[in-house]
Formats: sequence, C-alpha cells, structure tokens
Amino acid sequence: MSVDRGRPRTAVRTAVVWEVLREALADLAARVEVVRVLDIGGGTGGFAVPLAELGFSVTVIDPSPDALAALERRAAEAGTATLVTGVQGDADQVVELVGAEAVEAVVCHNVLEVVEDPDHALAQIGTVLRPGGVASILAANRVAAVVARVAAGRLADARHLLAAADGSAGEGDPLARRFSMDELMDLISGAGLVPRHSHGVRVFADIAPAALLDIDPQAVDDLIALEHAAAEDPAYATLATGLHVLADRLPR
Ligand SMILES: C[S@@+](CC[C@H](N)C(=O)[O-])C[C@H]1O[C@@H](n2cnc3c(N)ncnc32)[C@H](O)[C@@H]1O
Repeated sequence: MSVDRGRPRTAVRTAVVWEVLREALADLAARVEVVRVLDIGGGTGGFAVPLAELGFSVTVIDPSPDALAALERRAAEAGTATLVTGVQGDADQVVELVGAEAVEAVVCHNVLEVVEDPDHALAQIGTVLRPGGVASILAANRVAAVVARVAAGRLADARHLLAAADGSAGEGDPLARRFSMDELMDLISGAGLVPRHSHGVRVFADIAPAALLDIDPQAVDDLIALEHAAAEDPAYATLATGLHVLADRLPR
C-alpha cells in the first residue's frame, strides 16, 4: 500500500501499521510454505485487498453483509477475487468458522473495541493461529480519545470518558471500550500469545490540520515520516489514537 494521494489522511493513518504488517508477513513467508491470513472484522477490505495484491490468500470474517459486499467488489476491482474470501460471522465464532490452527497470520484491527468479549475474541485468535504464526492487533487508545475530546472543546465528554473504567463514553459512543497499552498487552498474553513488537499509531495523523494534507503533497510525506519516527519511541504511544501489537504463537 503506497501513499494513496486520493485519500491522503487514510494513507497517513495506515502507513506504519501497513509497513510493520507487511514486513512481518514477508518474514513469515520466508520461513513457512504457505501464509494464509485471517482478517477478523476486516470490513470492506482496507487491509485484506492490499494483502491479496501481495499474493496472500485472505479470509475476512465480518458480521456486516454490506461490508462483505463492498469487500467482494473491491477485491474484484483489484483483480484479487480468487485470493479473497468473505465469511459472514462474528469474532466469537472464528474457530467454529475456520477451524483450529487453520491460518499462519491473523489481522484484528479496530475490532476488540466492539466485540462482546475481548478475552474470548483473543482466545479465538490464539486457537485459530498455527504454532509459529503471527497476529496483528490494533485497538483504540483510551488516553488519545480523552485528549481528542479536549481538543474539540468537549470538556464534559472528556471528563466523563477519563473517569470511565472501560474507556467508553457509554450511550452514543460506538466503541464499547478502549485500552491502555498495558491492558492490551495483558489481554494478548492472557490468550497465550507473546507480544513481539508494540507501538503507537496515528500519533500525529489526527491532529495535523486536514486541509494541509489536501493542499500540500509534501505534508503527507512529512507526516508519514513523523509517524514512523514516533512509532519508534514508546513515549509517544500514550498519545497515539491506535495501539498496535504484533504477537506470536510460539512454535511447538
Ligand atoms: C472500525 S471497522 C474496522 C475494519 C477494518 N478491520 C479496518 O481496520 O479497517 C470495525 C469492523 O468490525 C466489524 N465488527 C463489528 N462487530 C464485530 C464482531 N463482533 N466480530 C467481528 N467483527 C465485528 C464491523 O462490521 C466492521 O467491519
């Protein structure tokens, strides 16, 4: 996924996660014969289709028929229809749907915030992965959500969210929870996976003026460079909109 000049902010938001994921899958492909990817809550294929363009076979599990229809169209337009399979279902049902130890890689991006039971969803990921496989987990950071509300002048909302134990603002908030990096790491370890690499993503992407990205192509490159640099420094993860962790299921 190179910089998408048509959608510069999306490109900036996804650049670091994409680089880390692409490298992890290339590394895996060099070690094992086949890399099958399962994208849980993969939606319309923002990651699944570019992964298929790299030659990976990707199954997307998502409860939304509309998202799966859009995924199918997107895969066809990209000429990757044979590599992308959409399956309607829930993160809770992953093992039931595809079996245990069925894939070498799992992508679970921006989904743990909305599932019924994140412990159960992570346990499914640990079971569906083959030993030696890798999971890419991306979840919303509770601190950044509070900061964003303050920046938008929504101070009462910010106070409410800051005090919420689950990191959700409750009614009207599309997310049932948000995480700190420690909470996310504990969830992942609790599923028997071993975190290999963690970083913050969208440290600056959501606070840089949107208009700047539309009028100045150099700003897109500069912001992506800033995102890469901030991802290298754990101190910036506190401010990041997203928390990204690569975790391994250790070989037997
Ligand atoms: C914010 S979107 C993320 C899409 C994609 N993973 C990404 O990062 O671009 C959340 C996705 O999770 C799906 N979803 C919602 N509840 C789910 C559940 N219980 N299990 C699996 N996916 C779910 C939604 O349909 C939607 O496609």
